[in-house]
Amino acid sequence: MNGARVLLGVSGGIAAYKAAALTSTLVQRGAIVDVIMTAAAERFVAPLTFASLTARPVYTALWDAPERIPHIRLVREAQAAMVVPATAHVVAKLALGIADDLLTTALLAARIPIAIAPAMNDAMFEHPATQAHLATLRERGYEIIEPEEGYLAEGERGVGRLASEERLIESLARMLSPQTLAGRRVAITAGPTREAFDPVRFVSNASTGATGIALAREAMRRGADVTLILGPTLLVPPPGVRTVRVNTAAEMLDAVLKHAVGADIAIASAAVADWRPAQHSEEKMKKSGDAMSLSFEPNPDVLAALGERKGKTLLVGFAAETGDHDRNAREKLRRKHLDAIAVNDVRGGAGFGTGENALVLLWGEDGRTDLGRADKETLAARLLDAIEGMKRA
Ligand SMILES: Cc1cc2nc3c(=O)[nH]c(=O)nc-3n(C[C@H](O)[C@H](O)[C@H](O)COP(=O)(O)O)c2cc1C
Repeated sequence: MNGARVLLGVSGGIAAYKAAALTSTLVQRGAIVDVIMTAAAERFVAPLTFASLTARPVYTALWDAPERIPHIRLVREAQAAMVVPATAHVVAKLALGIADDLLTTALLAARIPIAIAPAMNDAMFEHPATQAHLATLRERGYEIIEPEEGYLAEGERGVGRLASEERLIESLARMLSPQTLAGRRVAITAGPTREAFDPVRFVSNASTGATGIALAREAMRRGADVTLILGPTLLVPPPGVRTVRVNTAAEMLDAVLKHAVGADIAIASAAVADWRPAQHSEEKMKKSGDAMSLSFEPNPDVLAALGERKGKTLLVGFAAETGDHDRNAREKLRRKHLDAIAVNDVRGGAGFGTGENALVLLWGEDGRTDLGRADKETLAARLLDAIEGMKRA
């Protein structure tokens, strides 16, 4: 979010204190945040808090500095606006076009993407008036970041808790991204597979799925309709991405045939086990003190199966190599009918479970782009830039 200009509206609900934490996170990620508070919001949190966090003035009144017409200037300078929390009152005013304070007047004058994060008592949220106003806003292109179910400040449980900070930031990141993949269907496989040989034991590998999860998040931010086919991992898939959980290579194959065939872009970053134990015991195998050996049989080749059915899908594979990278990867590219292959050097375990990775993208007969060494988010963005370039070419 480096240098992104964000307008944050804060209205008068209990969750206003969470807007302060969100502001801090956005500033730490490099955003320049202008805050407008309603009069009611000032009763919950002091403007001083936001001014300190943003190192910028906080705007509270329509009538301050009129020579600079703040309600117009603020929305012209921002790339996206977000109301966190949005009270039932602000939601109603926005739907009806009532402009009686700085926040509602500025948003009425806005031509930028606007997200609204309602937070209120569940009865207020479910009230037909609130629901009708939210439907109106949605129809007009506002993004409504639905509240979550859980503990509400009045001690009740219900739907009305402000969306998690992660979801708020995800929506904002999406609004700030150019929608270069809008209307495109993208399928991504990620993570390891687990091949069991008794009810509690399995053979697997060191993949965490971080690369595929980063790719899914970035594709979603660019407006794609994303399906993530995810092997067993403790990492949490990004909100807003359709995630299909699988365990074994056979399940991964089923999911891929169902969700990736016919996609505009399919990226296979999963580390699918090449072999699975040939025997499976229904009972937990007992320790006997003797040596034990397992024999293996080949798993289905998920990527090759996708390659055979690829049609118009732009298909990108991954190759984790420990030597002779380019030659091995190019051979895989041809054999599995891929359009491109991202190669990473996994000597010494690099790339698996670490925050950083280094990738080289090979395509066609001799196309080669070094995507460099970077954190997985940055590499995901570079990889998608390269893929989008291929899609246009
Ligand atoms: C203690 C307290 C907590 C409130 N919490 C909320 C809330 O979470 N959501 C909401 O929509 N309204 C809440 N209200 C009501 C709003 O503050 C009230 O509707 C106010 O007019 C909102 O003004 P604004 O939308 O201009 O900020 C609360 C009121 C009080 C006194």
